[in-house]
Amino acid sequence: MEAKEISQAVIGRLPRYFRYLGELKDQGVERISSQELSELMQVTASQIRQDFNNFGGFGQQGYGYNVKYLYDEIGKILGLDQTHNFVIIGAGNLGRALGNYLNFERRGFLFRGIFDQNPALVGMDVRGVKVRPMEELETFIRENQIDIAVLTIPKTGAVGVADRLVQNGIKAIWNFAHVDLRVPEGIQVENVHLSDSLMKLSYNLSRYGKEQKSN
Ligand code: NAI
Repeated sequence: MEAKEISQAVIGRLPRYFRYLGELKDQGVERISSQELSELMQVTASQIRQDFNNFGGFGQQGYGYNVKYLYDEIGKILGLDQTHNFVIIGAGNLGRALGNYLNFERRGFLFRGIFDQNPALVGMDVRGVKVRPMEELETFIRENQIDIAVLTIPKTGAVGVADRLVQNGIKAIWNFAHVDLRVPEGIQVENVHLSDSLMKLSYNLSRYGKEQKSN
């Protein structure tokens, strides 16, 4: 496939397509038209076609798309045909919850290590993985081909820890700390702020409330 620049908005929609197609595949559905997918996902068929055209259209022939083919191709685009080793920095509530979530493995993300600066947490078991002290971080990520780090620590320590991670070969950071990280070019950072999603919900709730009152 040609290395065409795809907008982040399109990339942001791919996981949802992937999820729906995975469910269809599991239900034994072999083909689906853009119209049917559109009704299922509540997005317009033209949006779906436009999104898929970024990747050559996925060869819609005759009746609709081949579900398994589409699922596999979108998986490849998302890099899910490879496995990724990840570590979690911060074994608090959030870090442990993420470590305990099994579904990441299904997508090829392998939970290899979890680190914390609090000695009281070192040795604690998180789904078969023992919490390690921060002193072991560098050696561990170099020796275990870790490519992703999940940052679940407060913002105060996050910048320094991110620097250590990058210096030791981490290629991508899934950042839950409430701070913008400055990383060298080529290092991928995905910031997650659950409260952003909650604020969006709050906006819709207040707007919907107003509409109801005015009716
Ligand atoms: P927590 O207090 O349960 O856990 C934080 C852990 O990080 C503690 O075990 C602490 O010892 C460790 N830690 C702190 N500084 C460290 C450092 N420099 N190196 C290694 N370990 C360090 O907190 P919780 O609830 O797990 O949240 C973690 C962070 O994530 C918080 O700062 C919180 O603001 C943030 N957060 C972000 C969310 C988001 O959507 N982005 C959602 C929830 C929490």
